[in-house]
Amino acid sequence: METSRLPIGVFDSGIGGLTVMRAIQQRLPHESVIYFGDRARCPYGDRPPKEVVRFSEEIADYLFAIGVKLLVVACNTATAVALRHLQERLPIPVVGVIAPGAAAAVETTRNRRIGVIGTSVTVASHAYQEAICAIAPDIAVHELACPLFVPLVERGQLEGDHVEAVVKQSLKPLAGSGIDSLVLGCTHYPLLAPAIRRVMGAAVQVISSADATADHVARLLAQLHLLHVDAGRPEYRYLTSGDPASLKLALANWFAEPVAATVVEHVDAPI
Ligand code: SIN
Repeated sequence: METSRLPIGVFDSGIGGLTVMRAIQQRLPHESVIYFGDRARCPYGDRPPKEVVRFSEEIADYLFAIGVKLLVVACNTATAVALRHLQERLPIPVVGVIAPGAAAAVETTRNRRIGVIGTSVTVASHAYQEAICAIAPDIAVHELACPLFVPLVERGQLEGDHVEAVVKQSLKPLAGSGIDSLVLGCTHYPLLAPAIRRVMGAAVQVISSADATADHVARLLAQLHLLHVDAGRPEYRYLTSGDPASLKLALANWFAEPVAATVVEHVDAPI
């Protein structure tokens, strides 16, 4: 098959990467996309980095063998510790979510103070701080790990008193930091954005890397002459190492994907 007709591969530890997949579907409506959510081994954010690299390698090899023209690592934790390795390993372009999110934050901030929230592994890697400072070394970056957020999202708890209390307590260390922009440095967090916005207040811009990543993918495919230009119907394929029914439910609840028309396949992990 002509390379431009192959799907874009997207993977995450769980369902958070669907926020990136959705942004790609909206930005590139003619592109087919294949999504892998490693729900059996989610969360990645508290695991040893070496293990995250191994899982990422397995999934990347699996998607490459199926046939994808570009791979999006739609997981900040995997991007932080495995992106460079995957870029060296695969003969196709591999895109992460940190550089696009960092660039969007630099464009957004007015007072040069940016907050970044993510998993423990992402925050410990300082990947956002490095990416932001590489563009604008004068910017102060406040990083904060929010390890309770991913389990909430994976359980489908996005609103309510418990969610509000967890978000409020987790974001307390940012009070008084003076940030005017907050990067959601985990692809699960956009699903908690309403609660995060309420806690941070209107003076803080909340930035998700999903749209910025989709823009980056669009530019890269155009540069490489890999855009699928036919106006044919794109195919969306969902794979998970977890329970297909609950991924289907998440797609229906969050993105109004018709349950009956969505096929989610199970793939055993380790892959
Ligand atoms: C996780 O699996 O812990 C979170 C995924 C991410 O960092 O985006």
